[in-house]
Parts: sequence; structure tokens; C-alpha cells
Amino acid sequence: MGDNPASVIYVRNKAKACKDLGIISEIIQLPQSTTEEELTLKVLALNQKKEVHGILVQSPLPGHIDHFRIFATVDINKDVDGFHPYNLGMLFSGRPRFIPCTPLGIQELLLRSGNDPAGKHVVILGRGNIVGKPLAALLVQKAKGADATVTLCHRGTNNLPEITKTGDILVAAIGNANFVAAEMVKPGAAVVDVGVNSVIDVATGKKKLVGDVEFDSVSKVASAITPVPGGVGPMTIALLLHNTLKAAEIQNRIKD
Ligand code: GUN
Repeated sequence: MGDNPASVIYVRNKAKACKDLGIISEIIQLPQSTTEEELTLKVLALNQKKEVHGILVQSPLPGHIDHFRIFATVDINKDVDGFHPYNLGMLFSGRPRFIPCTPLGIQELLLRSGNDPAGKHVVILGRGNIVGKPLAALLVQKAKGADATVTLCHRGTNNLPEITKTGDILVAAIGNANFVAAEMVKPGAAVVDVGVNSVIDVATGKKKLVGDVEFDSVSKVASAITPVPGGVGPMTIALLLHNTLKAAEIQNRIKD
């Protein structure tokens, strides 16, 4: 809905990834003025369509829309974002079904880069519903690829740098350009930067994307670090495609 510049880019990248993989996708662009009832009816209509296996309502939604109610309208078997309260509840209950794409992408990234979180202290900076909270639930589970000790902190946490410095793995999802400085990072830690912040480049005067981590200084103390752009973003999209395939399998009764 609307014309949030970041959302326009995200949605375009998601559609391109679907096309590359042979998944049919349709972008339904609604004006900013669309009412909650109109949006609800749209989602309900997609729930009914047999040929639609996955539904993603791009956030942020305009202020007059209650995003919680919209996410709760999506059919739980088509919830490729994993934001329906049923699927979130399943994750928090240790019975994950659809897991939000960014946390799932971060888990995959850690595993494939040799940074299995098992037994490690993972500090997550940022407690949002899209990344921080579901990532904490995912990594604290007694399960393969998880089994971590998790600290969830935020900008109001007392002695924040002292806490972030205890993380063997530090995940920054606070939405603040270059917030994490080298002094906040444990030497040798693996750092995952979820931030996507648009700033003006002082050298060129043009807009550029930067993460929540001061890349140049932190990369000197970290053992591994994800870049922005190019790190977590593409993984989020890859896991969205994974969830979409899973949704199609569930609806065709190939999987439960
Ligand atoms: N806005 C930022 N990240 C996401 C995401 O993973 N899914 C949706 N629907 N909106 C987002």
C-alpha cells in the first residue's frame, strides 16, 4: 500500500526473485487511502483463490491500518511471511510452521558461514516484531541450528555497549544508521547487520544505503560481518521463496 520507497524496492526484488525461479507472482498495488475494510476484503479474496499459494502484505502499512488485524486475516496456510498470530504462536511454542523470512535467513546465514549458534551467546539489538522478537524465539529453541543463549536488548537498555560486547554473535536490527561502533563488539564476534538505512553520502552528495553497523571499523574486530546491501536482504528473499514452496506443498498435501 502507498509508495514507501524502501517497500517499492523490496517488492520489486521479491517479484524478480520469483520470476527467476519460475514462481508466478502478482503485485497488487493499493493507494495510500485504501481503508482497512477494503484491504481486508482483498486479503480474504486471495485466501479463497486456489491458484494463490502465498500472500505477503508488505509493511509498513499506513497509520490508519491495524497491521495486526491484517496479518491475522491471511490464511494460516498461505502466510509466507509467518506474521499470523497462529504461526508466531507456533514458533514461540517450539512447534515452528511458517517462520518469518528475515530470522530464518539469518539462521541459515549463520549455519552456512560456520557460525552455528548452538551454545553461543547471541545478542540481538532491536525488539521489533519482524526481526528481533521472532529471531530470539527461533534461536533459543531446543533444536538443530538454534540452542543459543539469547539476549534481546534495545536502545533503552542500560549499559547497552557492555551487553552487546558479550555477544559471540551480534545481530543489529535497530533501524539506526551506523549505530553499532567497534567498541560495542566483542573481538572475534560474528556480526549480522539487518539495517537498511538511506543516508546522504558526504563525498558524493547522493543517497546510499547503509546498515545499523559501522562497517569499516567493526569489520576490523569481527571475525565475520554481513554487508549492506547484499547480506541479509537477499537471504530474506531466498527464505520467502522457501516459505512459498512450503505453502504450495502444504496446500497440495505433500507436507503437513
Ligand atoms: N517490511 C520489512 N521487512 C518485511 C518483511 O519481511 N515482510 C513484510 N511483509 N514486510 C516487511
